[in-house]
Order: sequence, then C-alpha cells, then structure tokens
Amino acid sequence: MIGWQVHAEPNRVQFPDLDALVHYTTVRRGDVTEHIMTTPTAMEAVRSGKPIPAGTHFVLVDHRDGELYRYFVMQKGEDWGADYDESRRTADWQFQWFWPDKSINMDENTARCQSCHRGQEGSDYLYTAYRIPRFDGTPVE
Ligand code: HEC
Repeated sequence: MIGWQVHAEPNRVQFPDLDALVHYTTVRRGDVTEHIMTTPTAMEAVRSGKPIPAGTHFVLVDHRDGELYRYFVMQKGEDWGADYDESRRTADWQFQWFWPDKSINMDENTARCQSCHRGQEGSDYLYTAYRIPRFDGTPVE
C-alpha cells in the first residue's frame, strides 16, 4: 500500500504532564472507564468560544476493569497539519496511543484516529469539549 502507513509513526505528539491537566469528564461503557482531561487554558478558550491554543493536550485515560489500560493523546501545534495531506489532516492536531509505561503503540496507525475524529470538524475535532462549560469541579458524566 502506498501513502498510508500500516504501522504507527512516532509523530510530534509528546506525552503530557498529566498533573497539569484537569479531568473534566468521565465516559463509562461496560468495563471501560475513560477519564478525559485537558489544560485549564484550553478549558477557558472553550468556555469563551475562542480557538484552542497551540500546545494544548487532550488526554483520554482508558481504564479496563479498574486497571490503567492505555492513554489516547491529541496535541495541537503550530502548523502541525502540514505533516499530513489534506485527505488525512485534522487541522493542527496530531494523535498518539501510549501504553501505561508511556511507550508508543507501534501497531497503531494514527490515521485511524484522524479518520474518526474528522467527523468532529465542527467542534475542533473533539467529541467531548461541549461538556467543558458544564464542568464545575466534578467531572461531568
Ligand atoms: C471509531 C471512532 C474513533 C476512533 C478510531 C478514535 N476515536 Fe478518539 N474519540 C472517539 C469518541 C466517540 C470520543 C468521545 C469519548 C467516548 O465516547 O468514548 C473520543 C475521544 C477522544 C479523546 C478525548 C477528547 C475528545 O475528543 O473528546 C482523545 C484524546 C481521543 N479520542 C484520542 C484518540 C486517539 C489517539 C485515537 C487513535 C489511537 C482515537 N481517538 C481514535 C472516537 C474515536
């Protein structure tokens, strides 16, 4: 296959400082519990209808049966969209899957992440940001 990589690529996404992020919502599905978090600055931008700034991380911490299973990370950077062609691009967001030891899952093609999140183009490629304005200190469920 030409064009799409079959295996994951280390890209520009860096594992974030989780302590600097705010857990604003929880999604539960069967034995899966997802803690979703981002920076206070990004939350302020969403609340005031401003663009989410470059440098922002969104993290989905995925637990299975109460155990940490993996981290899904989105990070936005200035002109990072230029790394991909138009058919794949998610504005300036890049995606990565990290294992609990923070190593990258090399079997994942992050084009898959982008392809699904492209459906959320109207909300800056995010699924749960609309919950941020309801956050009052307790993760929204
Ligand atoms: C089949 C569609 C789909 C794919 C593929 C997918 N996501 Fe998501 N993602 C979602 C949905 C839906 C949510 C909202 C939470 C939920 O319902 O589980 C979400 C939420 C997130 C969030 C929290 C921010 C937000 O948008 O609310 C991050 C971070 C994230 N995904 C990263 C990734 C990464 C990294 C990959 C690839 C390894 C990926 N996603 C693949 C559908 C997808």
